[in-house]
Amino acid sequence: MHTTVGIIGGGPAGLLLARLLHNAGIDSVVLESRDRAYVERRQRAGILEQATVDALRAAGAGERMDREGMVHDGIELRFDRRSHRVDFPALTGGRSVMVYAQTEVVKDLIALQRADGGPLLFGAEVRAVTGADADRPVVHYLLDGREQTLTCDYVIGCDGFHGVAKNAVPESVRTSYERTYPYSWLGILAEAPPAYEELVYAHSERGFALASMRSPSVSRLYLQVPNGTDPADWSDDRIWDELDARLATDADPGWKLERGPVVSKAVLPMRSQVTEPMRYGRVLLAGDAAHIVPPTGAKGLNLAAADVVVLARALISLRDTGSVELLDAYSDTCLRRVWRAEHFSYSMTTLLHADPGQTPFETRLQLSQLDRIATSPHAAAELAENYTGLPLPR
Ligand code: APR
Ligand code: PHB
Repeated sequence: MHTTVGIIGGGPAGLLLARLLHNAGIDSVVLESRDRAYVERRQRAGILEQATVDALRAAGAGERMDREGMVHDGIELRFDRRSHRVDFPALTGGRSVMVYAQTEVVKDLIALQRADGGPLLFGAEVRAVTGADADRPVVHYLLDGREQTLTCDYVIGCDGFHGVAKNAVPESVRTSYERTYPYSWLGILAEAPPAYEELVYAHSERGFALASMRSPSVSRLYLQVPNGTDPADWSDDRIWDELDARLATDADPGWKLERGPVVSKAVLPMRSQVTEPMRYGRVLLAGDAAHIVPPTGAKGLNLAAADVVVLARALISLRDTGSVELLDAYSDTCLRRVWRAEHFSYSMTTLLHADPGQTPFETRLQLSQLDRIATSPHAAAELAENYTGLPLPR
């Protein structure tokens, strides 16, 4: 089998890229190791920057998002029993974000690809990519127990953090920058109305908490927990009591979360990692395959979308003009945005979490910075601009 663009991974990066290429008349094949039900059920974050919303609309995948997604004009910060709202449009000249779960984005993209797109193969596990520096790289994969090959003009590794595509970049040219955090998140999905109209990010001596949502009747909640925590140690009552304690504020003394059945809970490790460069020969990396962020700034999906928008433009330009200029610029163009998001995610994470080794001095510094955000429009604007996301390069 031969295709113009071989895409490894059917997460948001691979699926959106396939759509953008399909709409431009460029053929591709998507190879996804898991089955469709697994990919559609996987719980991930749910904040879309304006540039991601625009990209999904441009890809023709915005219809349900525009109907069911919730536009949010701010977030609330809670610290030292205080509450402070960060007003995005006022601080950024009109920008906001959309709350629409990554799982829903993935479902929408799969449905479109299945309706009229190129091949999207589930259960196709890529083992290796060879010939990255030759004219026709080859993807070796296993489907129905049989070893198969896909020859491509270009191979795009959209296969996430544990993917194999990055191995096609020789170790002599590849550099990995990494940081792991000394805490994890317990992610909770509950059949309970959201705590509040907007997301609440809480700093507390007991640890970080985040109250997010999926719909008017489903809450998505997170608690900082020690690395290695077993979710079974967290009963529903313990979860709700801890959320109430961490989210408590003197601005609303009787405030409590509305409780409901917890339908899923899982522990998520927190890590930052960047692989450079994001291209070697005819193999290019996009999304989590090249970089991951801790979830505090909700940047993972947005970075993945930005990468594939830049990449689709480069592949379309190559087809239309024969010029590899944009493709040659791909890695540098993306990495500039990636490192901005890495910095933002790191600073949000370290600002809001209680590091187990933290001294009282460091806690005072966190509270001082939170107070600065609450009292200085400049400090708040820095947060708001990064949270709502930078525009894509033209
Ligand atoms: N062969 C085929 N598919 C693979 C292989 C392989 N060897 N290895 C991984 N995959 C698939 C995974 O099953 C997954 O569906 O690649 C896909 C990668 O998808 P994601 O992990 O969702 O990564 P990406 O598309 O870059 O999206 C980034 O996902 O992890 C979140 O927070 C992150 O929101 C961000 C987004
Ligand atoms: C989520 O809704 O899952 C979510 C929201 C904001 C974050 C992280 C996750 O910062």
